[in-house]
Amino acid sequence: MENIMLDVRDVYKSFGGLYALNGASLRVKKGSLSLLIGPNGSGKTTLINTVTGVYKPEAGKIIFEGRDITGLKPHVIYKLGLVRTWQIPQPFYSMTVLENLLVSEKSKKGDGLLSALLRSRWIDREMELTQKAFDILKLLKLDHLWDRRASELSGGQMKLLETGRALMSGAKMILMDEPAAGLNPVLAHEVFSHLRNVCKSIGITLMIVEHRLDIAIPYVDHVYAMHLGKVIAEGEPQEVLTNSLVVESYLGG
Ligand SMILES: Nc1ncnc2c1ncn2[C@@H]1O[C@H](COP(=O)(O)OP(=O)(O)OP(=O)(O)O)[C@@H](O)[C@H]1O
Ligand SMILES: [Mg+2]
Repeated sequence: MENIMLDVRDVYKSFGGLYALNGASLRVKKGSLSLLIGPNGSGKTTLINTVTGVYKPEAGKIIFEGRDITGLKPHVIYKLGLVRTWQIPQPFYSMTVLENLLVSEKSKKGDGLLSALLRSRWIDREMELTQKAFDILKLLKLDHLWDRRASELSGGQMKLLETGRALMSGAKMILMDEPAAGLNPVLAHEVFSHLRNVCKSIGITLMIVEHRLDIAIPYVDHVYAMHLGKVIAEGEPQEVLTNSLVVESYLGG
């Protein structure tokens, strides 16, 4: 039990009488990189939105790090360290890559009046944050771009910057809905490879939705497959991809 980060138990959410989540359950291990798959409309985005508090589930429970977070507001869940990437404010295009990371941290904690008055403590804190930001940029292989404006980044680099900002905000688990969408396969591989690097070196838990399985599979530890609002299979990638229920769910649309 100790190493379960997220435990989704029998969750229901409907829109106009149709159940987008129809008893969805899954448990995510701490430090894992997992992939959430399923045909269009199977409930992946709804699951991410429900877990992060954008929607209230009509039934079921959501437990994060042993704490019941069912029905909590999105910003409360965000502060607990469960983050979906679009919750992170848009990058400031006119700021540099490094500055974008620094403001992500500040925007979360705010600067206390006392520490602002104690200049030496303030400088220590600034140095610590800059170091932390550089460590994150290095992991994402963005460190050589630290003084570039965000507006100059490529699509793939922008996605990685978004992840860097989530990490800087103190996220413990990040849910990503198609982080490599719109990227060509070469860049998409790069994004996945950097995400795996980050996950394994700092022990953050990542759950990613991606339709191009051939691209994502080599990087993930675990796969959850959804169909009609339920998780119908989970396990090692090859096991899930060859599961007859999963194959049928894709064929049946
Ligand atoms: N805000 C909404 N209002 C009404 N229906 C919705 C809403 N969001 C999702 N749905 C419905 O819920 C079901 C699940 O949608 P969801 O977006 O979660 O699927 P998905 O697995 O993310 O699909 P895709 O792979 O296409 O992104 C679909 O039938 C969809 O039409
Ligand atoms: Mg979706």
